[in-house]
Amino acid sequence: MKGLILCAGRGTRMQPFSHTTPKTLLPVANRPLLQYCIEKLQRVGIAEIGVVINPQQTGIIDFLNGLKTPCTVKIIKQTRPLGIANAVQKAKGFLQNDPFVLLLGDNLLCEELHPLLQAFEGQDAALMLSRVENPRDYGIAEIRDGKILSLEEKPAAPKSDLAVIGAYVFQSAIFRAIAELKPSARGEYEITDAIQQLIMRGGSVAFAITDKPYSDVGTLERWVLANRWMLGASHGSRIEIGENVRIENCTIRGPVLIGDNCILQNAEIGPYVAVQDGVTLQSCQIADSICLEGSTICGVDVKIEQSVFGRATTLQGGGETKKITCMLGDHSQVALPKPRTNKGKH
Ligand code: DAU
Repeated sequence: MKGLILCAGRGTRMQPFSHTTPKTLLPVANRPLLQYCIEKLQRVGIAEIGVVINPQQTGIIDFLNGLKTPCTVKIIKQTRPLGIANAVQKAKGFLQNDPFVLLLGDNLLCEELHPLLQAFEGQDAALMLSRVENPRDYGIAEIRDGKILSLEEKPAAPKSDLAVIGAYVFQSAIFRAIAELKPSARGEYEITDAIQQLIMRGGSVAFAITDKPYSDVGTLERWVLANRWMLGASHGSRIEIGENVRIENCTIRGPVLIGDNCILQNAEIGPYVAVQDGVTLQSCQIADSICLEGSTICGVDVKIEQSVFGRATTLQGGGETKKITCMLGDHSQVALPKPRTNKGKH
């Protein structure tokens, strides 16, 4: 069995961060989303993985070249984001007639792939499903008597709250269904429609339902949320500190993850903060946030929450408000206004 991970989407909802970093390289608990996908495939014994990228996403090639993995990784290019089914079609030469696990690179699943692979035995396809609060944003399965009756992509009137969460297994029969697809209302070749085709032709599509946390890291808020639950799951209330970190007069509440070569002074950090290498946190209070490589928060006299600081950003000053939430794209600089005083007034 082979693995296929899709990374070639536009990532528009993750701007400004996706301007400088492909969405699937954005870190959750200091590790890129793509790395979680590769390790998940590795844990079920998959040794050959294809990664579909847009040709401009050279950062993904660099990341994969530097990644230590026993798997063979093949890069497959999709020039235009014409849909998930189109991305799978591009990988046909790599997949040949082998069964394969398909993972959407921006989805983070706590569940392992074993239940999905068990459900797949003797079937044409299998899908991982989870109950969601906003079914209109997903591919939704209608299930009766333990069988998937239908699948619908982002339905206006959802028939259930059971969503497809970006982990699928297919026999090569899916390529026949993909070949017959027409673009959907949003102009994409939908994998959901291809699976529906498979069902209509009498193909067997199994499913595994998970109640473990899952996130489609498709918006900035969901990124911060995914960071929160991943830190909780991996670290409990533990504090992990990298090499060559200077800590002076700080209160740190776990779970907190600090990279290498950081400076932490007079700061209250945590809970749920992931800090990459080379970050400076001085005279500030930060919780539930992500600080990317080389960011600096200095002398900020307000509580920072649910925020992301891009690479080499600087945030300084402040005191006008009690709390702030901010999303600063790479290399941004922000100086908050100092509190107004009555000095000089008569
Ligand atoms: O998050 C789960 C949902 O993912 C499912 O419930 C839906 O059925 C499924 O269609 C998908 O919907 P999204 O609208 O969230 O898909 P998105 O465009 O975000 O793409 C998912 C991943 O696939 C992402 O890593 C980018 C990659 N991709 C996407 C497209 C459209 C490609 O590699 N090529 C593409 O052309």
